[in-house]
Parts: sequence; C-alpha cells; structure tokens
Amino acid sequence: MKFFLDTADLEAIKKFNEWGIVDGITTNPSIIAKAGANLEERIKEIAAMVNGPVSSEVLSTDYEGMMKEARKYSKWADNIYVKLPMTAEGMRALHTCTQEGIKTNVTLIFSAAQALIAMKAGATVISPFVGRLDDISEDGMELVADIMAMHYNYGFETEVLVASVRHPQHIIDSATLGAHICTIPPDVAEKLVHHPLTDKGLEKFLADWESVKDKQ
Ligand code: G3P
Repeated sequence: MKFFLDTADLEAIKKFNEWGIVDGITTNPSIIAKAGANLEERIKEIAAMVNGPVSSEVLSTDYEGMMKEARKYSKWADNIYVKLPMTAEGMRALHTCTQEGIKTNVTLIFSAAQALIAMKAGATVISPFVGRLDDISEDGMELVADIMAMHYNYGFETEVLVASVRHPQHIIDSATLGAHICTIPPDVAEKLVHHPLTDKGLEKFLADWESVKDKQ
C-alpha cells in the first residue's frame, strides 16, 4: 500500500520523507488555509520535495472554472493530480480531464455509487472519506470494502485512496482490504511508530546494559 501524507506542512513532509514512507501528498483548501500559504507556491514546493503524486484541489464549482484550474494546476509540475469534487459538474470535468490526460483525484466520496461512477469515468484515484462517515455513526471502512469489491470485479484502473484517516487502525484496515493508497495526517503517521512495550523494552535493555557497560 502506498502512503501519502495529508498535509501542506513542509516540516512534516521533510520528517516523514526521512522515514522513507512518503509516496505522495494530498491537500485540500482547508489544509492550504491551515498552512497559511499561497496555493501555487506551496504546491510547487511540495511537488519538488516528493517523488510521487501531489493533489491540488480546484476551488470552482462550475465545469468551466474547474477546467481552467485543472489545466493551470497540471502545468505546475509533472506530478500534480487535480482534485475534483464528486458533483455533477465535477463528473463533467473528470471526463474532460481524462480525455486530456490530466491526472485526477475525485474527492468527497461518501457512497459506493459515487465511487463506481468516478472509476467508470476514468478517475486516476478516488478518495472515500472514512473518518467523516465514522463521525456520523456510519462505517467508513465498510464503504472501502464495497469499493474494493467493485474494483476487483471489474478491474478498474483507478486507484483507491483512503482519506479522512483518524487513527492507525484506519490504515491497517485499508491495507487489509487491499486499498492502493492511504493518505495520513502527520499526527496519525507519528502514532504508527509507537508501542508502549517498545518503550518499556528499550528502557529495560538500556538499564541492564548500564550495569555491565564499564566491563566492556
Ligand atoms: O484530504 C481529504 C481528507 O483526508 C480530509 O480529512 O480529517 O478533514 O476529514 P478530514
């Protein structure tokens, strides 16, 4: 499974690049706003730091506006994926982007039907939002399971990118279900490395070593 970071924080990207786990980056308008950055400058900076796709989301909601932004973003770097919302206008833009060879990430997917039509229209990746479904007492991973079953049945080329990840178990469940990509906020990525028994075990090793180290 590929790991993307769901962030526009350059320090976080640098940190997890050094762990060797970053295959790409996703952003959205909220993430860019939180970073307090200029969209074009920040996306170009990120695209230069990462050896993989970088998603940049359109801000228009009409077809013409989305296409203008999609064509503009796709020229910023070779590894840009244009993020389009799952709407009727977004579907039109998806079809045109597919025809023009612009890579796409269809976002805000909350149902299997939405996933199916985006895969059918040739989305490069689709983003089911698991955490936001869990937040309203639905089961986000059940949606991913349905999408992976449809993917298996028909061999779509689209990759399934699990988004709105809240905790490490979402990542493990994504991998178990065979999702192609999981996009992970930095605070959740940090949690992946920790286990209390690792800390306790290391503490004991070092304490035992302390008693004999002068004899080495
Ligand atoms: O980037 C899209 C998605 O990962 C957003 O997650 O936490 O705002 O639901 P969240």
